[in-house]
Amino acid sequence: MAMLATTQVMAQQSVGEDIPQKVDSVMSRMTLEEKIGQLNQLTGDGEVTGPVTLNNSYQDQIRQGMVGSMLNVNGAEYTRKIQKIAVEESRLGIPLIFGYDVIHGYKTIFPVPLGESASWDLEAIEKASRIAAREATAAGQHWTFAPMMDISRDARWGRVMEGAGEDPFYGSMVARARIRGFQGEDFSKDHTMLACAKHFVGYGAARGGRDYNTVDMSMRRLHETFLPPFKAAIDEGVATFMSSFNELNGVPVTGSRELVRGLLKDQWGFDGFIVSDWGSIQEMMPHGVAADKYEAGELAMNAGIDMDMEGHVYIQELKNLLEDGRISEEQIDDAVRRILTKKFELGLFDDPYRYCNVEREERVILSKEHRAFARKAAAKSMVLLKNDKVLPLSKNLDDIALIGPLVQADQEYIGTWSARGESKHVVNVMEGFRNKLGEGVNLHYAKGASFTGGDKEGFEKALEAASNADAIVAVVGESAMMSGEALSRMDIGLPGVQKELVLELARLNKPLVVVLMNGRPLAIPEVDQAAPAILEAWLPGTEGGNAIADVVFGDYNPSGKLTASFPHAVGQVPVQYEHKNTGRPKVESQRYTSKYIDGPNKPLYPFGYGLSYTSFEYSQPVLNSQQMNFNETLRVQVDVENTGERAGEEVVQMYVRDLVGSVTRPVKELKGFKKISLEPGEKKTVIFELRADDLAFYTRDMEYKAEPGEFKVFTGSSSEDVQSARFKLLAQ
Ligand code: GLC
Repeated sequence: MAMLATTQVMAQQSVGEDIPQKVDSVMSRMTLEEKIGQLNQLTGDGEVTGPVTLNNSYQDQIRQGMVGSMLNVNGAEYTRKIQKIAVEESRLGIPLIFGYDVIHGYKTIFPVPLGESASWDLEAIEKASRIAAREATAAGQHWTFAPMMDISRDARWGRVMEGAGEDPFYGSMVARARIRGFQGEDFSKDHTMLACAKHFVGYGAARGGRDYNTVDMSMRRLHETFLPPFKAAIDEGVATFMSSFNELNGVPVTGSRELVRGLLKDQWGFDGFIVSDWGSIQEMMPHGVAADKYEAGELAMNAGIDMDMEGHVYIQELKNLLEDGRISEEQIDDAVRRILTKKFELGLFDDPYRYCNVEREERVILSKEHRAFARKAAAKSMVLLKNDKVLPLSKNLDDIALIGPLVQADQEYIGTWSARGESKHVVNVMEGFRNKLGEGVNLHYAKGASFTGGDKEGFEKALEAASNADAIVAVVGESAMMSGEALSRMDIGLPGVQKELVLELARLNKPLVVVLMNGRPLAIPEVDQAAPAILEAWLPGTEGGNAIADVVFGDYNPSGKLTASFPHAVGQVPVQYEHKNTGRPKVESQRYTSKYIDGPNKPLYPFGYGLSYTSFEYSQPVLNSQQMNFNETLRVQVDVENTGERAGEEVVQMYVRDLVGSVTRPVKELKGFKKISLEPGEKKTVIFELRADDLAFYTRDMEYKAEPGEFKVFTGSSSEDVQSARFKLLAQ
């Protein structure tokens, strides 16, 4: 009990002091070993999320003041048990901070983040993160390793499922919404938690889309595409960062003084703390920039990495490095100060057990309200890719065939990074359809095919089930373990023989709906040709089956829009809407232009694309002026009319093109969007504003500014379905 008094004494003595003084007061009592202990994060035995180095002696290390944070320790009761060791059995009783990967839900699981981003509903995205935080903090978590904000244009990369797609403008807005959701207005509230901007930086540009692989890019590309979401995270007040595994232009980011201490901390003024990704400090040895842990620790500490996640480098080497003058005490103190500051802001010194409330955990987790919102969020994430008058299905059909390996594969619905989500809580498509239609309909199920292999033995039963049905719903795609960390694919088609199964079903010439469940863009040109209706449902989370039923039977009119291009073929990758024109833009009839001889340049489905059960008509964009100068605002106005028979939502998008620059400029860049609802026949005027700042880029001299000249502005329903107008930015 004596130690508890120490912590409370520290908290009470410091009553009235502001946090920096409180931190100073605690640090004045700490030995060097205890300071280094604060920089050491170990994994618990809750689960394994990296190369296993599990050492069950972590409880002793906590007692000895050698641990500042734990990850993968879950539950109000268990975190209380571990926290008690730190608070009551270590010399100074400094509380631990518990971190966990709450990526798209804690117990109530939401659609994978790439899917969720397709809703273009920032409020819904924020609310989903708030619910995740409410559940995670009820289970003892103080800190989530989210949002992941890596931009990627490579569907082979397994972690494309964790981000918000290919565009830095939209990815920045989603990152901010997720940070708001997790952190709320006040960390010290027991239902908010620290967020983490990860993986800093460039991780999504791995060569070949192969996870952890080499990253090489120009500084211009880094600053224009991959850094913006991280800068936005700082502007939103994100509490922590995580450094990425990858090297960037020859230097592992975890050892990059230029990017971490130079850009992130000094230039951007980031005042939180940065944790290495799992073992990424010691991985500078296989990277080949450190001969041993000693050198790896030196690189990381000099780079500005504050906390060592499950690397056992700092705890073993920092004292030697300090004694050898290879690092400074100021660097260690700065890291300790950053970490202790967050612990005070969380209120952990006032009450180390405020997040360990079993009653709250039982009351809050997987509540009805949370499930209801997860169902709504899943429906909002879905993207209607094709619909030749098949959807929505009637609720009065007698016989529906449900075919495919994902119809009732509960575990796949929650994807990877599913935290404490459990398959037993999942509503699958079979159950969702039953819930929607009741007992009056006959649901004929056949798995048809597996996720892998060439076995077509299941086809016969599938075709038999389909032949007696009024409509066929094929639920196909990827298993959860086909996207996520260390889960890259070199072929991004439908796995196994699912494509062949769909083509066989299409030959029956019955109303066929293909429901895709996947964690990445898929190349499905044959399915697109053969199936009259295709709904992208992603890995939709705990309520996925109910949400799919809501959309398929028309209780929710799909409004999602893709945030990552779906390639025609893996050979197009990397592919994105924001591409350059080149010196020989494609002309179909001319050989010597930039094109493939065996396929199109354009993706199968472009960024920003998604259909509705109604239809929308756009006017030409109208500008309030054909020119603007550097201190004016240009207004872009477009009318959108619902020309169909039912209410619907539409994501109105605005893009810009800088026609001539000191460097080549993309043919389009997203600069605004608005999601609007329209009743049948209703028309709304949507207004966007553009300023010179919106036109800024890294010029030939790497200055970030707009250049005067001719521009095009585009408005429309996707990056390809647009109408344009021109304007001029006048010289200053
Ligand atoms: C993993 C991931 C990272 C995660 C961390 C802790 O390797 O790269 O995103 O937050 O380790 O699980």
